[in-house]
Amino acid sequence: MDTKILKIDSENVDGSLIKVAADILKNGGLVAFPTETVYGLGANAFDVSAVKGIFTAKGRPNDNPLIVHISDESKLDELVVDVNSDAKKLMDAFWPGPLTIIFKKKECVPLEVTGGLDSVAVRVPKGKIAFELIRESGVPVVAPSANLSGKPSPTDGVHTIEDLDGKVDCIIDGGSVDIGLESTVIDMTSDVPEILRPGRVTKEDIESVIGHVVEACGHSETPKSPGMKYKHYSPSARVVIVNSEEAVDEFVSSNSDLKIRVLKYSCDEEMGRNMFRDFRLADSEGYDVILVYEVSETGFGRAIMNRLKRASGE
Ligand code: TXA
Ligand code: MG
Repeated sequence: MDTKILKIDSENVDGSLIKVAADILKNGGLVAFPTETVYGLGANAFDVSAVKGIFTAKGRPNDNPLIVHISDESKLDELVVDVNSDAKKLMDAFWPGPLTIIFKKKECVPLEVTGGLDSVAVRVPKGKIAFELIRESGVPVVAPSANLSGKPSPTDGVHTIEDLDGKVDCIIDGGSVDIGLESTVIDMTSDVPEILRPGRVTKEDIESVIGHVVEACGHSETPKSPGMKYKHYSPSARVVIVNSEEAVDEFVSSNSDLKIRVLKYSCDEEMGRNMFRDFRLADSEGYDVILVYEVSETGFGRAIMNRLKRASGE
């Protein structure tokens, strides 16, 4: 397949290029595009054959449900039932932005989107390219991260092209993203709201708006969020979490035959933005092992450690 690559400046969005991509979406095609979190691979949520195409292009297990992206809150009604008052508060506080909310789905949402579940995950992404693309297409857009299944999520147009060129109709290259880790996913259908995937909107952020929420344990046999059971975010190099210079020195001296990269960042925001990119870079430079300094599991650090532990196979 010939993939159309559109370079769009995220600060100065070219409406005519957005229209080209939106027309592809409307006509059942697959379009990869940047959001503030990571790049997504989009399709019209109501077009079942396009939705199936996403699973094929990514090599994604088809029981892993997709997030539906809408341009603004007013489009929520056509997808879900039961928007309770806490969900409404979260929407007011964090949309548009990196929070995905799970609701009970309306009949019209295809089971192919939800992996057979009767709930649906919805988010309003922030960022001009995503907003303009979804608005112009006039349809809700399902979009998993635009990586090949199992690989780190793409945080730059270059990574998206690396994974999906030749497999999808169109890739919008809008440069590097802002956050670098996938959205927080919260299930608002349970009695006590449950965070299924930590992200930039933290547990503390959420609790300041709606009070107590629980965090899902991602390691159970039948996880509520099917995506959590699959190995994820992994570069080909082995990822090892370290907590001190001594640990690094010890690892390096006892593995002198291996090509070892060490990653350490100055703050959580920098780490979130760059970690997946640096995993990919280490692979392209042929490193065997990536040693990554752990961070404290509070605030955004929870999301970082969640991805890091999964990349390390812990
Ligand atoms: O930041 C993001 O969320 C990015 C950008 C593109 O928006 N998207 C993304 O999608 O990370 P994906 O498909 O890679 O991750 C979606 C996660 C998976 O873990 C999936 O299992 C979970 O959300 N999920 C989706 N619908 C669900 C549902 N109805 N119930 C439980 N979990 C659901
Ligand atoms: Mg993903």
